[in-house]
Amino acid sequence: MSNTTGMANLNLTGDDGTVPTEDEVNPWEVHASSATGVDYDKLIKRFGSSPIDSALLSKFETALGQPPHFLLRRGIVFSHRDMDQILALHSQGKPFFLYTGRGPSSEAMHMGHVIPFLFTKWLQEAFNVPLVIQMTDDEKFLWKDISLETARSYTTENAKDIIALGFDPERTFIFSDLDYIGSSPEFYRNMCRVQKAVTFNQAKGIFGFTESDCIGKISFPAIQAAPSFSSSFPQIFNSRSDIPCLIPCAIDQDPYFRMTRDVAPRIGCPKPALLHSTFFPALQGCQTKMSASDANSSVFLTDTPKAVKDKINKYAFSGGGATVEEHKKNGGNCDIDVSYQYLRFFLDDDQRLEKIRQDYSSGELLTGYLKKELIELLQAFLKSHQEKRKAVTNEVVKQFMTPRKLKFDY
Ligand code: TRP
Repeated sequence: MSNTTGMANLNLTGDDGTVPTEDEVNPWEVHASSATGVDYDKLIKRFGSSPIDSALLSKFETALGQPPHFLLRRGIVFSHRDMDQILALHSQGKPFFLYTGRGPSSEAMHMGHVIPFLFTKWLQEAFNVPLVIQMTDDEKFLWKDISLETARSYTTENAKDIIALGFDPERTFIFSDLDYIGSSPEFYRNMCRVQKAVTFNQAKGIFGFTESDCIGKISFPAIQAAPSFSSSFPQIFNSRSDIPCLIPCAIDQDPYFRMTRDVAPRIGCPKPALLHSTFFPALQGCQTKMSASDANSSVFLTDTPKAVKDKINKYAFSGGGATVEEHKKNGGNCDIDVSYQYLRFFLDDDQRLEKIRQDYSSGELLTGYLKKELIELLQAFLKSHQEKRKAVTNEVVKQFMTPRKLKFDY
């Protein structure tokens, strides 16, 4: 639990009166009480979202004429709000846009940060829609012991990694809160509208703020809410305020958007729809998410092939038997094995993944082989990523971050 923004007084009890588990999930803290990680079914009940079930997956397939992304099929993107409405809009040829973001807390991003962006990229390509990416450098300035200048410089460095994942500049606008808000009256007006619609008591209830939190933190949620409204980007949406928004995010960001959805009708805007993903586990196990501040809990985008190998071999929590004999006899436990869990996030070949699962569970495949498979996959990903990132110059970053019309007409 983070000390300044603890969630102790957050009422997460569902409508059905479910007793909260000890899982802690909020924008500042993720910790599960069980080795298999957060109980996501319970979280759906507590947060009041909807599970992504096979009916919704078929609607995806029908709307897109292609199978949904493996992160959806595997239940890693597991929960939503109003995704059915977005699919219905799309089928009627009506527009919507995507909004996601990143809090640039350090120069180096890790593999866990990449997942939501890879998924967002797939969504953008599959639906052919505009995407806005908010870099909350102001948030990191408020929450961490860093200067405004440092926070702003992390935005540029992180934007390079995001761009290197292959976003299309004609369809994507990346913005720094520190730069864009001061230049956009419409964005600021939406912030003011949200600020007026939420009381301190409500903010305390949703985010666990206390009297001793600085007032910047208390009003920050309005800043994360504003990009959900198309009128915050008049240059992209021809000043229209009625274009619906879909937000892919990790489930810990949901409190911001519960607040946004509550406020939206009162300020005359459509409620944003949401797609929630589970967390990418730390190397040490599924009880927590990767942390950028602990070098050994994560694989960073800057890691060398040797560092990847050493980290996985040394730290990736194993669900295998204590000895080879025991492993062969009882098999490995994929649910808690971090290397297997990582393969679920990155190996797109369903059949290969299933074969690995079967062979590891039966004890035929040893932990060492599983790790080797993962190491090779990550090394290949990082090699190509690092090359692509080198090609992203400051000029390219500027192109993505310049407020402008994208290739869509409204
Ligand atoms: N607060 C998020 C973080 O710390 C960044 C963010 C801003 C975001 N807007 C978002 C994440 C929208 C997902 C969707 O990382």
